[in-house]
Amino acid sequence: LKEIKNICCIGAGYVGGPTMTMIAAKCPHINVNVVDINDNRIKAWNNPDTDYIPIYEPGLASLVNEARGRNLFFSTNVNQAIQDADMIFISVNTPTKTYGVGKGMAADLKYIELCARQIATVATSDKIIVEKSTLPVRTAEALKRILDNTGNGVHFDILSNPEFLAEGTAVSDLLNPDRVLIGGEETENGRLAQQALVDVYANWVPKDRILTTNVWSSELSKLTANAFLAQRVSSINSLSELCEVTEADVDEVARAIGSDSRIGSKFLKASVGFGGSCFQKDILNLVYISKSYGLNEVADYWEQVIIMNDYQKRRFAKKIVETLFNTVSGKRIAILGWAFKKDTNDTRESAAIYVADYLLSEQAELVIYDPKVTKDQIFSDLDYLGSRSTEENRDLVEVSNSPYDAVENAHAVAILTEWDEFVTYDWSKIYNSMLKPAFLFDGRRLLSDELMREIGFEFYKIGKG
Ligand code: NAI
Repeated sequence: LKEIKNICCIGAGYVGGPTMTMIAAKCPHINVNVVDINDNRIKAWNNPDTDYIPIYEPGLASLVNEARGRNLFFSTNVNQAIQDADMIFISVNTPTKTYGVGKGMAADLKYIELCARQIATVATSDKIIVEKSTLPVRTAEALKRILDNTGNGVHFDILSNPEFLAEGTAVSDLLNPDRVLIGGEETENGRLAQQALVDVYANWVPKDRILTTNVWSSELSKLTANAFLAQRVSSINSLSELCEVTEADVDEVARAIGSDSRIGSKFLKASVGFGGSCFQKDILNLVYISKSYGLNEVADYWEQVIIMNDYQKRRFAKKIVETLFNTVSGKRIAILGWAFKKDTNDTRESAAIYVADYLLSEQAELVIYDPKVTKDQIFSDLDYLGSRSTEENRDLVEVSNSPYDAVENAHAVAILTEWDEFVTYDWSKIYNSMLKPAFLFDGRRLLSDELMREIGFEFYKIGKG
């Protein structure tokens, strides 16, 4: 069994950066080189002041401080890192395809394939290749064919080791994972490679939490995990509307069903809809794969999770327009929260983007406040949709540094991210500075109905009639 002394990770993003930092911190005897073609990102990872590393996660900066320069290195020298490594993690992005066959559904594997070709060209000694990116089931087969056919006669073993961390809690998830999953080929070499990676994680993860499976089960489990998580959100969100018309309360329903140990209480919070870079992309990918095998019923079943989520965002925006006497044209609406969830600055697929876009199409004037998201990011998210020109976006949207400025003279306030600080605001002061009637739309069920109504708000909360 080969002992791993040198690891390379291609891709220094939200997954590659934190996972490799944890491996380096927990395995001082292993050298970890994280490489990326994005020079700015690598520069930021190397910033002497770890407040400026490119990814904000509670606890990450101090871990980077501990390991960087000791056995953790960030660089753009991909070839050198490949050559030196015994084990190579591929952690590049796998977005939804935006062109050609499978457009809007399939995962775009061009970045993965480029990595494989580069490894094949550069490697002069045997390597274990670890799929860390989320990939369609049977991608390892394609990787193997590329590696075996263009290589320099070196031997490659391929493992699947999907990442289950959640943004916002990445460090504690990596430190104390529910499980680590390692899929390997069912051959003698495959088993040895699998054991080599088990031994890396065993430096800090209890052995009974390290699951080994065949490669295909492992690849498919990651897509399945995200599909199940998103499905719970869409399930409770679908019932939130039924609660509104029947005067049930969705949190009470969630608590009642969540106490059933077969159902469990987590991930049953109704909201304006899930976001983030993974849930939608991975379900679309699952739908695409199912269709490509002719499994249309399976595909339709999972696609409904996305349809429900899109509906929930639209429904919330529509509710605002209807409540404001069927027009928001020229009305100032304050949006609190832009990140897709609290404790992250990541806005990819955030519900706020789509709600804002809907309101802008109704000619509303928006003022946006988020504690961690920059103005540039907000405009870039709106521009990316292409619904209107960049000038129009800047005419209609203002980004504020203060929640109290944002709500001044607003017809309505909408809460779109569950930031803790929103609960602590002086809501009477906010009420006083708004136009009357003052409408408040809570897309995250953060605020108390009684309190808000007592202050004088016309209050709407998702999932409550
Ligand atoms: P990201 O976009 O933050 O990072 C990917 C990095 O790979 C980028 O910095 C890019 O420059 C680099 N890259 C692309 N091609 C390259 C090449 N040929 N050579 C060197 N560098 C290259 O993506 P993120 O969020 O880290 O996701 C990576 C993978 O992990 C995806 O497959 C995603 O689905 C999966 N994943 C993401 C999670 C998350 O919370 N963000 C959680 C679990 C899995």
